[in-house]
Amino acid sequence: MATKTLKALKNYSYSDKKIFKKAKDFLPINGTDYVELYVGNAKQAAHYYKTAFGFQELAYSGLETGMRESCSYVLTQGKIRLVLTTPLSPNSPIADHLKKHGDGVKVIALEVDDVRTAYYETMRRGAKSFFPPEIILDADGEIIRAGIHTYGETVHVFVERKNYKGIFLPGFVKWKTGYNPSSVGLKYIDHMVGNVELGAMNTWSKFYEEVMGFANIVTFDDKDISTEYTALMSKVMSNGNGRIKFPINEPAAGKKKSQVEEYLDFYNGPGCQHIAVATDDIVFTISEMRKRGIEFLYVPGSYYDTVKKRVGIIDEDLKKLKELGIMVDRDDEGYLLQIFTKPVEDRPTLFFEIIQRKGAKSFGKGNFQALFESIEAEQAKRGTL
Ligand code: FE2
Repeated sequence: MATKTLKALKNYSYSDKKIFKKAKDFLPINGTDYVELYVGNAKQAAHYYKTAFGFQELAYSGLETGMRESCSYVLTQGKIRLVLTTPLSPNSPIADHLKKHGDGVKVIALEVDDVRTAYYETMRRGAKSFFPPEIILDADGEIIRAGIHTYGETVHVFVERKNYKGIFLPGFVKWKTGYNPSSVGLKYIDHMVGNVELGAMNTWSKFYEEVMGFANIVTFDDKDISTEYTALMSKVMSNGNGRIKFPINEPAAGKKKSQVEEYLDFYNGPGCQHIAVATDDIVFTISEMRKRGIEFLYVPGSYYDTVKKRVGIIDEDLKKLKELGIMVDRDDEGYLLQIFTKPVEDRPTLFFEIIQRKGAKSFGKGNFQALFESIEAEQAKRGTL
């Protein structure tokens, strides 16, 4: 690494003094700008995310707007922007991605004040370029964007939008239909988890540390996350202000195939395993999502027998939580409520977590056991355990 850094420094245009001054927080991130999924049929996926997840229509780009290669629908809820993109021909990198991975997360876009600095600083630290800084313009102003690769074929796109007043990005028009189901109360992205191959967790946690300036805030080993059959290890990486959290999972040795291996098999490599979205009323959110057809992982009824002893007094009605399958965990700072959807496509790959934090900043370690047993029951049904 030292040689690599020295070599990169030589080619760097800033003075060394300036680099080290900036070294402490060289990549301030304002938040997740958008998450882009490549999907087989964006029109139908958009309908699903509107209906079942309560996303609201925002913007559109496709043949009608002069886009010949792909079609994108942008949906929003709270601070979340979800982009659903589908290719319009078989000869495109989007079609290749889709064939290999199925529906899944391609872009985790991060909003920054200065894209050029974000791109050149991460490149200097060893990032692999997806595309260099570009300015895209329309009558509403300008956006600067640049992208770098992360695990698998997933990428980070830096977005600078301080000089843009448009609906989403240049090239997009306002998307308006007569079908607008109400929101289910999703507010923002709490964390996004990446699954990587056995032995690659440290490579990618190092990437987030050295290339993006993140810190490792928690580590789970196979003693924390294992059942009789399967195991995984995880390192949670966080940026400086804590707004961006990326846990990185790798499979650990077990008697049978772990959920991470199942994911890697069906996604054909590393990728985003789940998107955790926050709500401030999980009972309302999950009641709505269940009504609208979302399937969640089953929590064994016996789980609730010990919850009170484990987490103490909570504001919510335990009976209601049990009825909805919402799990609870506590740490030194408070407690959290969480629940996991089943995969949202036919391949057992991407799923969602809905989380409500009441002081707790952790990730529900106390629920891992019940959760894993539930995932294994699903794997057994799929014949992938
Ligand atoms: Fe999570």
